[in-house]
Amino acid sequence: MKVLVATEKPFAAVAVEGIRKEVEAAGYELALLEKYTEKAQLLEAVKDANALIIRSDKVDNEVLDAAKELKIVVRAGAGYDNIDLEAATAHNVVAMNTPGQNSNAVAELVFGLLVFAVRNFFNGKAGTELMGKKLGILAFGNVGRNVARVAAGFGMEVFAYDAFCPKEAIEAAGVHAVDSQDALFETCDVVSLHIPATPETKQSINKALVGKLKKGGILVNTARKEVINESELLDLMAERTDIKYVTDIMPDAHAEFAEKFADRYFSTPKKMGAQTAEANINAGIAAAKQIVGYFQTGCEKFRVNK
Ligand code: 3PG
Repeated sequence: MKVLVATEKPFAAVAVEGIRKEVEAAGYELALLEKYTEKAQLLEAVKDANALIIRSDKVDNEVLDAAKELKIVVRAGAGYDNIDLEAATAHNVVAMNTPGQNSNAVAELVFGLLVFAVRNFFNGKAGTELMGKKLGILAFGNVGRNVARVAAGFGMEVFAYDAFCPKEAIEAAGVHAVDSQDALFETCDVVSLHIPATPETKQSINKALVGKLKKGGILVNTARKEVINESELLDLMAERTDIKYVTDIMPDAHAEFAEKFADRYFSTPKKMGAQTAEANINAGIAAAKQIVGYFQTGCEKFRVNK
């Protein structure tokens, strides 16, 4: 049995060693394709793989066609919008994610970005503090919950909206539940996005919504670039010269954002939210265990395709 780890953005070495231990303890072989630059390399590497561990690497119909022996693909992470789920099902491939395993890392980065933003990107001018400010969390999943926990330490007042999570569950975590996305943006000084990229959420963070932010509002995105309506956000930031946008997912229009709003916009060059040794170990080893569990017992926990 061959397990391929294919990561354009590699795991920390210590996480790869952890994955290797799990895979070899089960009597399987581990193959590595790290930092690949061409899709052709992935197509070649998947040919004889029975299982595949990926991060944001795209697994589409072409990859699945090439992966003749593939039975399972595990996205070591939360968002699985990079896997063509219908194609996986059509190829009889089980697709899974590892929810929660990297969420603290992403939540910590939210505050790294926020401190950087409120201190004017360390340009020497007096900024503001986070204490006492209202933080809105859009979607109260694993990352959102960790953001709420850390925000409490900063002394922020925390609000959340989640279309799929009952208000009582949000309130039980000590967070004010609001009734709508609009209400969240109207209420808060800072809004942090934790929604997945789905047909419903794509482009949903638009001018009308972000325009509801209070004066000096900050939008933080550690979710997906696809949820942002970039042209409308560009328009809004031109009109509302008080709004800042900080993101861990470089927008398609990065050059335009950077040129027009040098003092109000920042993007990490490469998505760094889950890029910690701990998150890599947690998500990578969980992925390896899920693969071994699937082959040994048929366990389909965390399966995301039908
Ligand atoms: C996730 O969905 O788990 C995060 O966006 C992390 O993605 P990455 O593994 O590409 O860093």
